[in-house]
Amino acid sequence: LARVYNFGAGPSMLPEPVLERAREELLDWRGTGISMLETNHRGADFRELAQVSEAKLRRLLSIPEPYRVLFLHGPARIHYSAVPLNLLRGRTRADYADTGIWSDGAIKEGRRYCEVNVVASSRPEHYTRIPPFAQWRLDPQAAYLHITPNETIGGVEFHDWPDTGEVPLVGDFSSTILSRPVDVERFGLIYSGAQKNMGIAGLSVVIVREDLLGAADPRTPSMLDYAHQVAERSLAATAPTFAWYLADLMLDWVEAQGGVAAMAERNRRKAEKLYRFIDGSNYYANPVEPASRSWMNVPFTLAEPAEDERFLAEARAAGLAGLKGHRFVGGMRASLYNAMPEAGVDALVAFMGDFMERRP
Ligand SMILES: Cc1ncc(COP(=O)(O)O)c(C=O)c1O
Repeated sequence: LARVYNFGAGPSMLPEPVLERAREELLDWRGTGISMLETNHRGADFRELAQVSEAKLRRLLSIPEPYRVLFLHGPARIHYSAVPLNLLRGRTRADYADTGIWSDGAIKEGRRYCEVNVVASSRPEHYTRIPPFAQWRLDPQAAYLHITPNETIGGVEFHDWPDTGEVPLVGDFSSTILSRPVDVERFGLIYSGAQKNMGIAGLSVVIVREDLLGAADPRTPSMLDYAHQVAERSLAATAPTFAWYLADLMLDWVEAQGGVAAMAERNRRKAEKLYRFIDGSNYYANPVEPASRSWMNVPFTLAEPAEDERFLAEARAAGLAGLKGHRFVGGMRASLYNAMPEAGVDALVAFMGDFMERRP
């Protein structure tokens, strides 16, 4: 099996031990003679997996008791709607920070449900930094403040949280969950798609403080009503069984690596190595203000954009895949999620150095 280093932004690289375990168990999960692909979500075996996976996530992120954890169908984007539907609780206004293309998506969807107050925007600076919190115009009457802790396209990450007083903070953790410790208590609600650091597409995870639930808009589809899903233990409908199972394997893997603190150490080293190389190169460039740079997604450009295609083709031939930048920003992007080993970053840096030296 010739595996390459996959720098794709999501679905993204999975650790080989996780893939191997899924392969081993594919035809016969836990000696039941039934594949996970065929396992009934209401059977005792799956219910146990559901319980155990929640316990693992709670342990890894030190999720305090008054928070409920949901494993739900669907993309991260479904929560752009589910969050206002559940958390407006009769209010008419919500705060949103505009730090990139994903927060802009949340804002556009949020406007369908409420009056959106954009507390700060780095759009005029082409989304190259998190605007300083001191400049944020927070509304004390807002139902919540929505942020995107890691902007996957721009490569911009929060390294600290704004103080919101009584207003619940909501975070779209799709591209940063499990990459480092997070003080869950700073948030009213955390949501994330699974397809980057928690497995494969088809599953999203919600961590929500219980007291915020129970006042959803009456038109909320019951499948998106968090209180209903809490009551049903995320099994209100047929669950995304395989994606949930894969998430469980990923949680095992993160635990075996030493947990999120160990992941953070490694992720910081990986990102620093790549940024240091880019900054010192005179050929590659990353536009993000250093204090706001992402540990997970590193966009970069070549001094000669005409070389982009050759760069990508030669990188692919060298076993480095998925480096094409997002269509909105162009250039390159290296995603360094948990499953990307340090050796992958070393290989990328070596290739970039070599490419730069060999240019005509
Ligand atoms: C931060 C962030 N939010 C939302 C999404 C959208 O995810 P989905 O396609 O699961 O809706 C992505 C996808 O890459 C993302 O990176």
